[in-house]
Amino acid sequence: MSISAHTILITGGSEGIGLALAKRLSQQHQVLICGRDPAKLASASQGNPNLIPYRCDLRDPEACLHLAAQIKQAHPNLNWLINNAGAKSLLKLAQPDANWQQALADDLSLNFQAAVMLSQALLPLLQQQAQARIINITSGLVHLPRAEQPFYCAAKAALHSYSQSLRWACRDSRLRVHEALLPLVRTGFHPQGLPQHQSAWSAEQVASALLKAVEAEQEEIYLGKAKLTPWLANLWPQLGLRLVNH
Ligand SMILES: NC(=O)c1ccc[n+]([C@@H]2O[C@H](COP(=O)([O-])OP(=O)(O)OC[C@H]3O[C@@H](n4cnc5c(N)ncnc54)[C@H](OP(=O)(O)O)[C@@H]3O)[C@@H](O)[C@H]2O)c1
Repeated sequence: MSISAHTILITGGSEGIGLALAKRLSQQHQVLICGRDPAKLASASQGNPNLIPYRCDLRDPEACLHLAAQIKQAHPNLNWLINNAGAKSLLKLAQPDANWQQALADDLSLNFQAAVMLSQALLPLLQQQAQARIINITSGLVHLPRAEQPFYCAAKAALHSYSQSLRWACRDSRLRVHEALLPLVRTGFHPQGLPQHQSAWSAEQVASALLKAVEAEQEEIYLGKAKLTPWLANLWPQLGLRLVNH
């Protein structure tokens, strides 16, 4: 690795978009990935000495703080944090659903709280580095929610707001705060399959476009159809909601 190599933590780096980012970035940099499933972590890091797995369930706040402490201790050069891990619960809000409390806790803790906890816990370390980045992965759905993923969309909207606050608060520091707002991507994130009528990006396309935009110092990175969402939400919100919910 060159002197300019970074040390990068990617949450959810064992699969999907996180793994595509990890594969690219580990060609030049040291990449730490975390996830729950040891088999996925082992398969992602096998034969790649630049990829170091950490097992962690990020829905647990204590586990987030423990991961941050482990990383501070073992990797004092950490200078990028990519808050990528995410999952969604599907719910019919208008009907009784025995699982709504679990869905609320899961979706908020993983998609919002874990990203904030890792960012806040690692901020002092990141701010010591000559150049540092936090990259939060959200979705076009922060502007136009899908009613069947209500808590996931609310959590990503909260992460969008936190990203703006953190960027503003760090504006005079060496820490850059990015947010990538993604379109539909073909990954295991959709266990029920992708909507038939919609085109989807591949995880590799996302990784390539995202890293190019970060290199160009773009702060809010809208990819694909996600670019339309803030405009639709402002100009034609009813049409926008109909389009994402049909
Ligand atoms: N795919 C899309 O259409 C799409 C669109 C917009 C935004 N996004 C966002 O993009 C990000 C990546 O999504 P993806 O499509 O790559 O999903 P994915 O293929 O399902 O991968 C999710 C990753 O997160 C990890 N993860 C899940 N729950 C976790 C937990 N509780 N603790 C720690 N790690 C956990 C998974 O590993 P384990 O299961 O082993 O824990 C896996 O490595 C997410 O933030 C998602 O919201 C995706």
